[in-house]
Amino acid sequence: MTSATEKQREATVRIPVVDAPRRDRWWIAPLATVLVLCAFVVYGLWVTFSNDNYYARPYLSPFYSPCLAANCEHHTWTIVGDWWTLSPALLVLPIPLGFRLTCYYYRKAYYRAFFWSPPACAVPDARSRYTGESRFPLILQNVHRYFFYLVVPFPFILLWDAIRAFDFPNGLGMGLGTLILLVNAGLLGAYVLSCHSCRHLCGGRLDVLSRSPRRYRAWRFVSVLNERHMLIAWVSLVSVALADVYIRLIATDVIRDPRFF
Ligand code: FES
Repeated sequence: MTSATEKQREATVRIPVVDAPRRDRWWIAPLATVLVLCAFVVYGLWVTFSNDNYYARPYLSPFYSPCLAANCEHHTWTIVGDWWTLSPALLVLPIPLGFRLTCYYYRKAYYRAFFWSPPACAVPDARSRYTGESRFPLILQNVHRYFFYLVVPFPFILLWDAIRAFDFPNGLGMGLGTLILLVNAGLLGAYVLSCHSCRHLCGGRLDVLSRSPRRYRAWRFVSVLNERHMLIAWVSLVSVALADVYIRLIATDVIRDPRFF
């Protein structure tokens, strides 16, 4: 028999079921996610496999950075010898790709947009059962923190590319491409710093933050960025694509790079 206290507890936690479907335009966000992510994936695959026009001196496309193979048009470090004949982008792509794919924010976005799991708040799930990320294969998303460790050098490498982008054939200078690469490196740095794993690294496992003032300051700083993680994730994604487009247009002589000095 159910006691009066248990009945009372049940009544307290029962969530009212609202049958009326949502009438607002909840589908705009998942639709936009599908369109932008599909566009980025198609463009990214084309750029990766095209293996040309990714360097217009002194600019190196972020898709090909760091360029590690002997067949690179512009080497960052030559680590892989002549035996590598495929696109050099394939050597580095798995790290930033894995980082973005397992990102907590993107997971939410593409689960909603592609799997309808669920498509939006108060909109029914496309499947009758929901196991979350507790089973294979989605349990593998937990590797995100390791991708975080692997991706940490990337903003510094992109910054190095941006610094090298001051080195023109006729001497030191600065063009619009230099500025684009600097902004892109900054945005990727902000994306990495705003990562939830980064926030956990700064302030996680601390019971009393005041006893670790440095970690507390780092955690506060990272938390400010973390609150804007969604925005930074999108802006940095678009920035990578735009930087590549710009360099590709210069490399193919479609546009000229304006010089500031
Ligand atoms: Fe988005 Fe780590 S949570 S990059």
